[in-house]
Amino acid sequence: MRARASRLAAARGGLLGLLAVLLCGAAPPPEWSPSGMVASDHSLASAAGAEVLAAGGNAVDAAVAAALAAGVVQPAGSGLGGGGFAVLQRPGGEAIVLDFREVAPAAADREMFVRAAAAGDEDASRTGGLAVAVPAEGPGLAALHARWGRLSLARVTAPALRLAARGFPLGAHLAASLERLGDRAGPLAALLFGPSAGAAGRGEVVRRRALARTLRAFAASRGEVLQRGWVAADMVAATRAAGGLLTEADLAADTVRERAPLVGRYREWTVTTMPPPSSGGAVLLQALAVLEGYDLHALGEGSSALWHLLAEVSQHAFADRARLMGDPDRVEVPLDRILSPTRVTQVRAAVDPEQTQPSADAYGLPVDPGQDGGTQHISVIDAQGLSVALTTTVNTSFGSEVVAPRSGILLNDQMDDFVARPGVPNAFGLVGSEANAVAPGARPLSSMTPTVLSHPDGRRIVIGASGGPTIISATLQAIVSLVDFGRDPAEAVSAPRMHHQWQPRVLSVDEGTPADVVQGLRARGHSVRQVEAFSAVQVVVRQADGSLLGASDPRKGGAPAGVPPEGGAGAAR
Ligand code: GLY
Repeated sequence: MRARASRLAAARGGLLGLLAVLLCGAAPPPEWSPSGMVASDHSLASAAGAEVLAAGGNAVDAAVAAALAAGVVQPAGSGLGGGGFAVLQRPGGEAIVLDFREVAPAAADREMFVRAAAAGDEDASRTGGLAVAVPAEGPGLAALHARWGRLSLARVTAPALRLAARGFPLGAHLAASLERLGDRAGPLAALLFGPSAGAAGRGEVVRRRALARTLRAFAASRGEVLQRGWVAADMVAATRAAGGLLTEADLAADTVRERAPLVGRYREWTVTTMPPPSSGGAVLLQALAVLEGYDLHALGEGSSALWHLLAEVSQHAFADRARLMGDPDRVEVPLDRILSPTRVTQVRAAVDPEQTQPSADAYGLPVDPGQDGGTQHISVIDAQGLSVALTTTVNTSFGSEVVAPRSGILLNDQMDDFVARPGVPNAFGLVGSEANAVAPGARPLSSMTPTVLSHPDGRRIVIGASGGPTIISATLQAIVSLVDFGRDPAEAVSAPRMHHQWQPRVLSVDEGTPADVVQGLRARGHSVRQVEAFSAVQVVVRQADGSLLGASDPRKGGAPAGVPPEGGAGAAR
């Protein structure tokens, strides 16, 4: 999928394809490497992964190194106080999923946020101790490394430890995320970076000394200290002091699960993606299966006709998500119905190319009456073709905003991904059903969509995103851009995008979307809202000759890092 091939495809796409190139602006060329590539939300996290690859590590080592580094330099999105999912595909095609999603504490119950709201705390599922689900990123990354890594955990942890101990420049995205906290930014920055860092601005070097101690202990104990020991005790004390339910027994419980991936097809590609407790894979596979019945070239890249189709397809899939999906260990998620050929045909028949449906009830599979609704991504491919798509999160920006002082760990607010209060949308405006109700030990439904696509000619695409529910639509559109329109990875992640999650009945489009596209969508009955950058996609592509291209979404300022060719620097192609 070299730039030349993509230009040929653009020519095939005709004028509309050319228009889309213009809409993309001048996307920087993708990074190229003959032997290893990492794309993540932060250049220092990608560099951590590439360093480990260059030291002889495999894609798993690199993904773990990058995730640990991301937790240091971009704590708004992920870290040891959160959780995540990894999709791994071996060079021969065998695939495995590791689920280290946070679970609700044992003392949690279905009504806990209803009671908190009645007592005047409407925000309890988002900020403060009650919002904290049992952190699992530490045990998850340790298990990922122990099962499939090659280097020692100390070597894999070294780049993150160096960043935490020696410091790193406070990045633009982190500075902007802090700024959005208003008065709460100073105290939180002081907890994360030390008392003198309360006023640190963009570009200033900050350190995370407490987290450096934690990372040393993490490597020495192979993750154990996060489940039993002083780090676990510190997280429990901080959460409970902030009114939470977390106990040392919650942390000690083994919640990391290996799962079978969801596998589907899109055109000539095999799509290996995340099963429940993420909704991401199922929504993505249903949408792709429906889209396969359309000639997307005929609709035109970047056209209102294509975005309308994407919006309609998304609304059906998100309606199925809201009504039917939850923790697969507790409720039966009817994937066979959601992904069946009958359902796909039904959705195609329901799509009116000229009009969105006035009623929300027109979307989604029917359910029994009585049922009622921060992140970062890393894509890696190594020299052998081992592929890892790893998405980790503390949920919304800076999670619960509770920081454990001795360990420097910022705790998640993943409890908000449950239907905390029936009928009340969560921080992302998502609604859901009883299938996603709070229960002790349950996993909240996710949208994270780590995905690997493989082609019979040896090509691979490792992809995923951050951005709450927009993760799914962003991943979907980048796949369409790569597969249907032959874009290179940089073009695919940079192109303007839309998002529709069924409820609310709003079609979000990137700011700067051309007026005629917005007009075409409004003419079809959509309530269109132009929003600032809302998702960030990370892609690594293995080309048919075995070389690798990587690209990071410009929306979040990340950058890919490749292992340089012997004797030379990583190149842009
Ligand atoms: N917390 C974001 C997600 O899992 O979808």
